[in-house]
Amino acid sequence: MKPQDYIKKEDKYGAHNYHPLPIVLERGKGPFVWDVEGKRYFDFLSAYSAVNQGHCHPKIVKALTEQAKRLTLTSRAFYNSVLGEYEEYITKYFGYDKVLPMNSGAEADETALKLCRKWAYKKKGIKQNKAKIICCEGNFHGRTITIISMSTDPDARNDYGPFTPGFIIIPYNDIKALDKALKDPDVAGFLVEPIQGEAGVFVPDEGYLKKSYALCKKHNVLFIADEVQTGLARTGKLLACDHEGVRPDILILGKALSGGVMPISVVLADDEIMLTIKPGEHGSTFGGNPIAAKVAIAALEVIKDEKLAQNAERLGKIFREEFRSIKSDMIQLVRGKGLLNAVVIRPKKGKTAWDVCLAMKDKGVIAKPTHEHIIRFAPPLVITEKQLREAIKLIKEAFKLFE
Ligand SMILES: Cc1ncc(COP(=O)(O)O)c(C=O)c1O
Repeated sequence: MKPQDYIKKEDKYGAHNYHPLPIVLERGKGPFVWDVEGKRYFDFLSAYSAVNQGHCHPKIVKALTEQAKRLTLTSRAFYNSVLGEYEEYITKYFGYDKVLPMNSGAEADETALKLCRKWAYKKKGIKQNKAKIICCEGNFHGRTITIISMSTDPDARNDYGPFTPGFIIIPYNDIKALDKALKDPDVAGFLVEPIQGEAGVFVPDEGYLKKSYALCKKHNVLFIADEVQTGLARTGKLLACDHEGVRPDILILGKALSGGVMPISVVLADDEIMLTIKPGEHGSTFGGNPIAAKVAIAALEVIKDEKLAQNAERLGKIFREEFRSIKSDMIQLVRGKGLLNAVVIRPKKGKTAWDVCLAMKDKGVIAKPTHEHIIRFAPPLVITEKQLREAIKLIKEAFKLFE
């Protein structure tokens, strides 16, 4: 089959809810992927930061296949021999009393919202059905109806109403707005991305997280961090909140928690919060399944063993430095932290970020525009300096084509 045949098949039989770059991948290893014609590319998207440990990491794949041969799923109707081991490992790893395992990032966000509301009624004493959660303009927390009820992106919301009530939407990176919103005594939580990834890698001012956290404490409101994209070494620290020494009351993780081999997500919190949910009040058939348990342990071990946070921190600086030296009037702005970066593209003679991505693809680097004029650059964190410099050289060649 030719690449066009694969594309046609997806187009004919699959829903049209994505607009992929025209490239058909069949293999991956470390920072590289190969298309069906055998051409190699640097992967600069990493499946939206799920493949931080690199494609098909041998240790993670081994954990997956070994457990797959032994026991795949019990549901939570019974105990199994690996879930407790995973729960102990991950709670100690992040320093929380308890973990609630789910699958996708959206499910973990939903879980955090439910947990926050439960806490509001059981502990804070807010009247039934009155609890409110503050969230930020430009947020991205997933695709469920409740989650898009928080969204300010028309594409995410249009024609999906009616929406879930109980959210207060304030501007991102605006402490004054948060301070004002927190004056409402029915506020139970503040849900925030430490860096807004999908919105185009918006890095808030230094001190924003710390000040937000302090304000939440002052008003007895839970600080909930969605680190589904920023978490797990991507920004140069294990968690993006670590840059400001903030420990969220509720921490949401997903994506790279499996190194990209399957959907694994979690919500972490201390007993005071987590134990407000009682048996039968929340769950998931696949959440915390034995394969996920073993895969997540392996994925977290790789992050520490291979010092991925340190690598992201060091190479991120090189990336931004190199990018800022590119002489192209299409590059309006470069921003990011660690290896989560974005370049804002100024269209030129009708050529947009999409055209730049096509040109980069032809040169051997794949990335995807977000919001039409922004390209996110997020390679697997196992990339070496030599590989990064090689990729940047190809990216520079792509930009030259528009001069
Ligand atoms: C910050 C954030 N939260 C939640 C999600 C949703 O994760 P999933 O696509 O696994 O549901 C994403 C996905 O991009 C994300 O970036």
